[in-house]
Amino acid sequence: MEYKCLICRGEVKPFISFGRMPIANAFLSPDQYKNEHFFMLETGFCTGCSMVQLTQLVDPDLLFHADYAYFSSISVRMAEHFKQWADAARATYASSNDNFVVEIGSNDGIMLQHFAKAGVKHLGIEPSANVAEAARKKGINTRVCFFNEKTAKEIVVEYGQADLVTGANVICHIPDLHALASGLEALLKPKGVFQFQEPYLGDIVTKVSYDQIYDEHVYYFCLQSLQKFFNGHGMEIIDLEPQDVHGGSMRYVVARKGARPVQPSVKEWWAREEALGLSKFSTYQQLAKKIEASRDQLLALLKQMKSKGLRVAGYGATSKSTTVTNYCGITPDLVEFISDTTPGKQGKFSPGVHIPVVPYEKFKTAKPDRALLFAWNHGHEIVANERAYVQGGGRFIVYVPAVKEVEGV
Ligand code: SAH
Ligand code: TYD
Ligand code: ZN
Repeated sequence: MEYKCLICRGEVKPFISFGRMPIANAFLSPDQYKNEHFFMLETGFCTGCSMVQLTQLVDPDLLFHADYAYFSSISVRMAEHFKQWADAARATYASSNDNFVVEIGSNDGIMLQHFAKAGVKHLGIEPSANVAEAARKKGINTRVCFFNEKTAKEIVVEYGQADLVTGANVICHIPDLHALASGLEALLKPKGVFQFQEPYLGDIVTKVSYDQIYDEHVYYFCLQSLQKFFNGHGMEIIDLEPQDVHGGSMRYVVARKGARPVQPSVKEWWAREEALGLSKFSTYQQLAKKIEASRDQLLALLKQMKSKGLRVAGYGATSKSTTVTNYCGITPDLVEFISDTTPGKQGKFSPGVHIPVVPYEKFKTAKPDRALLFAWNHGHEIVANERAYVQGGGRFIVYVPAVKEVEGV
C-alpha cells in the first residue's frame, strides 16, 4: 500500500504499525461495544517534506463532538501553565484591549479565560459543543466550529483581523493544514502572529514516548517540517521555545515572511534537529525498534506482577493510554481498573481493551500494589499528591523513557 503525504503529496513511508486501534478518547459502556469503531494506527515519514504523520485517518466528526471527553482544566498544572502563557502573550502581542485574540481549540477556556477577564476582545473556536459550553459559562466568547479557511473568513467579516492567534495541542489534530494556513493568511493582521504549542517530535524520538501516537494526532511536528510548510504559505517560524508539558512540547511563533525579526532560536533548533536526524527515515526505523522493545518489556513486567499476585491499577485514563493498552495487549486481567478524575470517563470502560474506569476515590480505597502511570506527563503533580501511597508501600510503573518500577518521577 502506498500512502501520499497529506501536505506535499509525496510518498509517505510507514515505519511503525500499532495494529487495529479504537478511538483513543472514546470511553464507552458495554452496550456500545458492538459498535466500537476501529482503524489501523500506523505512522509514516514523508520522503518529500519530512512530515511525520498517520497513514490512515479517523473522520474528525467521530473525534470531536458534543460528548468530547477531554476537559483541559482538569489539571492544576496545565491551568497554571496556560495562565503564564496568556500573561506573556498579552504583554508581548496583545497589550491593548482593542487587540483581537483568537484561540483555535479553546476547549473549556483554560487559556482564553485570562484574556476574557482582562477585557481583551477575543474569540474561541471549538468544535466540541460540551467543552465550548463550559467555556461560555466562564464568560468566554466561543464559536462551535472547526477552524478552517471558511470559518476564518467568517471571523474576519464579523470581528476584523487578529493580532494574535493561538492554539495548543490542536494544530496537529487538523488533517488539512493547507486550510489552516489559508485561514491564518486571511485572519492575521499584517504584523499579527500565530503562536502554537504541540507535542514535540524530538521528545517522542528521544523518550520513545510512542503513546503520543493516536488518532487525534495526525502530525508529529518539528521545526524542520513545519518551517517548510509555512514557507509554502508566505509565512515563517520566527521563534520557538521548548515547554515541559504533555511529555515535552514545543511552542512556535509564526508571522508573515519578513514581518518580524527571526530570533536566534530558529538557527539553534535547526542544528539540534539536524543532529537528532529528524529529517532522516533511518531515525524512525530505529525508533520503531525501540517502541517494539518497550512494548515487550512492559507486557513482561505486568505478567510478572500478575504471577507474583500483585494488583496493578492504571493512573489516569489518558488518550495516550489507549495506544499503550491496545498495542501492548494490556487487558483487565493485568490492569484491574484505571482511576481518573474526569466525571465523564468514570463508570465507563477504556477503548478496545475495556478496562473499567473508576473515580479517583477507588484508587484510595482499593490500594493497588502498583500504579501504572498512564498520565506520566503529569508525573510530578501526581507523585506529589501520592506521597502516602508510596509511604504505604505502593509503587509506580512507568514506561517513558524506560519501563521500570519507581517511587517517584
Ligand atoms: N487547547 C486545549 C485543548 C486541547 S484538546 C489544551 O491544550 O488543553 C484539542 C481541542 O481542539 C479539542 O477541544 C477539540 O475539540 C479541538 N479541535 C479539534 N479540531 C479542531 C479544529 N479544526 N479547529 C478548532 N478546534 C479543534
Ligand atoms: P492528559 O495526559 O492530559 O491527556 P491525554 O488525554 O491527551 O493523553 O490526560 C490526563 C488524564 O488523567 C485526564 O483524564 C485526567 C487524569 N488525571 C487524573 O486522574 N489525576 C491527576 O492527578 C491528573 C493530573 C490527571
Ligand atoms: Zn510531504
